[in-house]
Amino acid sequence: MVDLIASLAHCVCQTLLPELRLESLDPHNPVVVHALPAPWRCLGAGNYAAVFAHPAYSDQVVKVYAPGRPGIESEVEVYGRLGDHPAFSQCYFSQGNFLILKRLLGVTLYDALHRGLAIPPPVIRDIDAALDYARSRGLSPHDVHGRNIMQRDGHGVVVDVSDF
Ligand SMILES: Nc1ncnc2c1ncn2[C@@H]1O[C@H](COP(=O)(O)OP(=O)(O)OP(=O)(O)O)[C@@H](O)[C@H]1O
Ligand SMILES: [Mg+2]
Repeated sequence: MVDLIASLAHCVCQTLLPELRLESLDPHNPVVVHALPAPWRCLGAGNYAAVFAHPAYSDQVVKVYAPGRPGIESEVEVYGRLGDHPAFSQCYFSQGNFLILKRLLGVTLYDALHRGLAIPPPVIRDIDAALDYARSRGLSPHDVHGRNIMQRDGHGVVVDVSDF
């Protein structure tokens, strides 16, 4: 696992960052990806960062903060406090403006609403339990919105802990 993460970090530095062009045009809207080298794929963008996957690393994602957007250090700290919990990702590595995180599968509740997909009550119960767990670890979860929660197979997960 350590070797895998080291090789992904190397791949990020060699193949992603040199050609990636990310811009936060407005702090209240998602960052814009102007250029992304193949074979990287963009999985989503938030107001601080965009998240990418490489086909050779199916269980990890790379979250890159846009120039001028703060918060990466506190996100690393939050993951340190959360430890290993099924409703959260994990941070394996961070350097400069990027993090390597555990990949979470599912559909954001924002996309579920747009696509007319049902959101079963256990999804919301999982999220409530996850937020209670975060509070029990001394955190104050906020910014819990539809793009920061995903559902899969009737379970809920929190994809973004940057404002906890
Ligand atoms: N661990 C992950 N696995 C899979 N997809 C992810 C993961 N983390 C983030 N994503 C996707 O990338 C999108 C943007 O990531 P994230 O919400 O962490 O960015 P952000 O800029 O911190 O957001 P915000 O504007 O809410 O602060 C998410 O909405 C989700 O679609
Ligand atoms: Mg987000």
